[in-house]
Amino acid sequence: MRLRVDDGQSPLKLAGHALVALSILVATAALAAPRPPRAPRAPRTPVEIGRVLAEGPHAGDCESCHTQHAADQPEAYPRALIGPDDNTLCDRCHTGAWSSSSYGGTWLYAGSAHGSGTSMLWPGPDPPARGDATDAGLCVNCHDPHGWTDAAGRIPGLMVAREEALCLTCHDGHPAAADVRTEFLKPFRHPVTTTGRHAGAESLPEDFGTSPLPRRHAECEDCHNPHVARADGPLPLAAPAASARNLGVSRVAVLNGTAGSPPIYTFLPASDTLTAPVAEYQLCFKCHSSWTTQPAGQTDFGRVLNPNNPSTHPVEAAGRDVALHPLSFASGWSATSLTRCGDCHGSDLGAPAGPHGSTNRHLLKRPYDESPLPRTTTEDELCFQCHAAPVYLGGPSPALLAYSRFNPPQVTGGHALHVSTNGVPCGACHVTHGSTTLPSLLVVGRNPGILSYQRTFDGGTCTTTCHAPQSYTVNYGR
Ligand code: HEC
Ligand code: HEC
Ligand code: HEC
Ligand code: HEC
Ligand code: HEC
Ligand code: HEC
Ligand code: HEC
Ligand code: HEC
Ligand code: HEC
Repeated sequence: MRLRVDDGQSPLKLAGHALVALSILVATAALAAPRPPRAPRAPRTPVEIGRVLAEGPHAGDCESCHTQHAADQPEAYPRALIGPDDNTLCDRCHTGAWSSSSYGGTWLYAGSAHGSGTSMLWPGPDPPARGDATDAGLCVNCHDPHGWTDAAGRIPGLMVAREEALCLTCHDGHPAAADVRTEFLKPFRHPVTTTGRHAGAESLPEDFGTSPLPRRHAECEDCHNPHVARADGPLPLAAPAASARNLGVSRVAVLNGTAGSPPIYTFLPASDTLTAPVAEYQLCFKCHSSWTTQPAGQTDFGRVLNPNNPSTHPVEAAGRDVALHPLSFASGWSATSLTRCGDCHGSDLGAPAGPHGSTNRHLLKRPYDESPLPRTTTEDELCFQCHAAPVYLGGPSPALLAYSRFNPPQVTGGHALHVSTNGVPCGACHVTHGSTTLPSLLVVGRNPGILSYQRTFDGGTCTTTCHAPQSYTVNYGR
C-alpha cells in the first residue's frame, strides 16, 4: 500500500492543505478528547511540515492522517487526527506483520521492551522531550510521522534522530536503565559510528562485507530489532541461545561438513524467530564468517568453530573432549558447558551485557594477549574465568596440578612450569576459538612456540623453538 506519492501537487497546493490542516488543528484543540497536556514540540509551521513530509515515505495528503471534517467523525481526536493519537493510527496502514523488514506488527511490538516500557519516553532536546506518561511506548518516540531533520538534512526512516544517535539518546542511563553510550566511547568497540552504510533490509553477503564495495558496519539495528527486543526472563540463558534482546534480527545458520571445511550457510530473515537453533553466534556470522567477505587477517569463525574440527571452544555444540576433569574448570564450568561469544566478548565491567565496547583489546571482558612472546600470566586473565587458575598457573596446592593432563605428576613440567616458571603464555601453544587440524586447541608455527605436534593415545611429542623434541604421558585418559 502506498500513500498518494507526488500526485502532481504543486508546493502551493500542499501548503494550502497544510494551512487548512493547521487551522483545523487549532479549531479542534478545544474539542479534543481529554488528554493531559504534553511538552510543546519545536515550533514547525505547517509549511515546513509539508516540505519534510513530501520528501519521505509518507508523502501525500495531510488528510491520510488528519481530517478537515471532524464533524463526520463519531469523536474528534487530538491534533485533528483521523483516530486516537497512538499506535493504532500507524496500524491502520502498517497492517501486515513483517511486510517490511523489521516491523513485526502490533502484538510483537506491544510485548517488546519499547512497546511496554513505562519509561520509554523521548528525553529531548531535539525534538523536544515528551513529558506525558501516556506517550510511553508510542512509535512517535522514535518516528516522526512527518519526518524530522538534523544538520545533515532529512533523517531517513522517519526517525527523530540518525542511526545510533536515536538509540543512545535514551540508552545513556536515562530514561533507559543501562548506560550503553559509555561502552561505545571505549577504545575497543563495534563501529556503530560508521554512517550511511546500514540500510534496513540487508540480506546479501555484500551488504556486510569488505568487497565489492566497502560495506563493513555494525549499527544497533544489525544486532537489535527495536520493535521486538525485550529483556530475558529470570533464568540464565542456556548457550548457544540468543538473548530476547537480539530477537527479530536476521542471522546466518550453518550446516557443518567435515573438519576444516567452511559450512553451508543459510540466511534467515528478521521475521524468522523460530527456526532452531536461535543462536547468538548466528548473529555474529553475518559479519564474522566466510558467508560475507571479512577484512584481511580476520578469522573465519564459521570454519574454525565447526564442531567436527579436532578441537573448538564449544560455541556451536558441546566440545569433543568429554573426559576433561571437572576440577580443571573454574566453578560453574565443565566439559559439557557451551560458551557463547558473549561469555568472552563484552564490557570490561561485566555490564551492561553485549559486545558493545571494552577497554580490553579484541573487545574482551577480561584481558588476554594471544602473542606467544614471554610474559607473566596473571589470574585475572580471560582464560581463568572458566579454567581453574591454580591448575594452570600452579600455586600452594601442587595436588591440583594433576587435574590437567599436561602437568606433574606424569609430565615433568607441563602447564605450570611453562606458564609460571618460564613465562610462556597460553598463546605460544594454543589458539583461542578452534583448530581445524590439531587437538586441544594446539597451534604450530608461532614463534616462540611449537614447530610440530604428534599425538599418541596417552600423550604426545612436541618439537619447539625452545628446546629439543620432548614426549610426555598424560595424567589421565582422554
Ligand atoms: C502519516 C500520518 C500523518 C500525516 C500524513 C500527516 N500527519 Fe500531522 N500528525 C500526525 C500525528 C500522528 C501527529 C501527532 C504526533 C505526536 O503525537 O507527536 C501529527 C501532528 C501534527 C501537528 C501538531 C504539531 C506536531 O508536530 O505535533 C501538525 C501541525 C501537523 N501534524 C500537521 C500536518 C500537516 C500540515 C500535514 C500535511 C502536510 C500532516 N500533518 C500530515 C500524523 C500525520
Ligand atoms: C495512511 C497510511 C499510513 C499511516 C497512518 C502511517 N503510515 Fe507509515 N507508511 C505508510 C506507507 C504507504 C509507507 C511506505 C511503505 C513502503 O514504502 O513500502 C510508510 C512508511 C513508513 C516507514 C518507513 C520509512 C522508510 O523510510 O522506510 C515508517 C518508519 C513508518 N511508515 C512509520 C509510521 C508510523 C510510526 C506511523 C504512525 C505514527 C505511521 N507510519 C502511519 C503508510 C502509513
Ligand atoms: C525505539 C525506537 C523505535 C520505536 C519505538 C519504533 N520504531 Fe520503527 N523503526 C525504528 C528503527 C531504528 C527502524 C529502522 C530499522 C532498520 O534500519 O533496520 C525502524 C523502522 C520501521 C519501519 C520501516 C520498515 C521496516 O519494517 O523496517 C516501520 C514501518 C516502522 N519502523 C514502524 C513502526 C511502528 C508502527 C512503530 C510503533 C508501533 C514503531 N516503528 C516503533 C525504531 C523504532
Ligand atoms: C525513547 C527512549 C528510547 C529510545 C529512543 C530507544 N530505547 Fe531501547 N529502551 C528504552 C527503555 C526505557 C527500555 C526498557 C528497559 C530499560 O529501562 O533499560 C529499552 C529497552 C531496550 C532493549 C532491551 C533491553 C532490556 O534488557 O530491557 C534493547 C535491546 C533496546 N532498548 C535497544 C534499543 C535500540 C537498538 C534503539 C535504537 C533503535 C533503542 N533501544 C532506542 C528506551 C529507548
Ligand atoms: C573462549 C572465549 C572466546 C569465545 C567463546 C569467543 N571468542 Fe573471540 N576472541 C577471544 C580471544 C581471547 C580473542 C583474542 C585473539 C585470540 O586469542 O585469537 C578473540 C578475538 C576475536 C576476534 C578478533 C581476532 C580475530 O581472530 O579475527 C573476533 C572478530 C572475535 N574474537 C569474534 C568472536 C565471535 C564472533 C565469537 C562467537 C562466534 C567468538 N569470538 C567467541 C575469545 C573468545
Ligand atoms: C567462557 C568459558 C571459557 C573461557 C573464558 C575459556 N575457556 Fe577454554 N574451554 C571452555 C570449555 C567449556 C571447554 C571444554 C571443551 C571440551 O570439553 O571440548 C574448554 C576447553 C579448552 C581447551 C581444551 C580443548 C580440547 O579440545 O581439549 C583449551 C586448550 C582451552 N579451553 C584453552 C583456553 C584458553 C587458552 C583460554 C583463554 C584465552 C580459554 N580456554 C578460555 C571454556 C572456556
Ligand atoms: C554486534 C552486535 C551488537 C551491536 C552493534 C549492538 N548491540 Fe546491544 N547487545 C548485543 C548483545 C549480544 C547483547 C547482550 C544480550 C544478552 O546476552 O543479554 C546486547 C545488549 C544490549 C542491551 C541490554 C544491556 C543490559 O545489560 O541491560 C541494550 C540496552 C543494548 N544492547 C543496546 C544497544 C544499542 C543502543 C546499540 C547501538 C548504539 C547496540 N546495542 C549495539 C549486541 C549488539
Ligand atoms: C553487522 C555486522 C556485525 C555483526 C552482526 C557483528 N559484528 Fe563484530 N564487528 C563488526 C565490524 C564492522 C567490526 C570492526 C572490524 C571488522 O570490520 O571486522 C567488528 C569487530 C568485532 C570485534 C573486534 C575485532 C578485533 O579485531 O579486535 C569483535 C570481538 C566482534 N566484532 C565480535 C562480535 C560478536 C561476538 C558478534 C555477535 C554477538 C558480532 N561481532 C556481530 C561487524 C559486526
Ligand atoms: C608449552 C605449551 C603450552 C602452554 C604454554 C599452555 N598449554 Fe595448555 N596444553 C598444552 C598441551 C600439549 C595440551 C594437551 C594435553 C593432552 O595431551 O591432552 C594442553 C591442554 C590444555 C587444556 C586441556 C585440559 C588439560 O589441561 O589437559 C587446557 C584447558 C589448556 N591446555 C589451557 C591452557 C591455558 C589456559 C594456558 C595458559 C595459562 C595454557 N594451556 C598454556 C600445552 C600448553
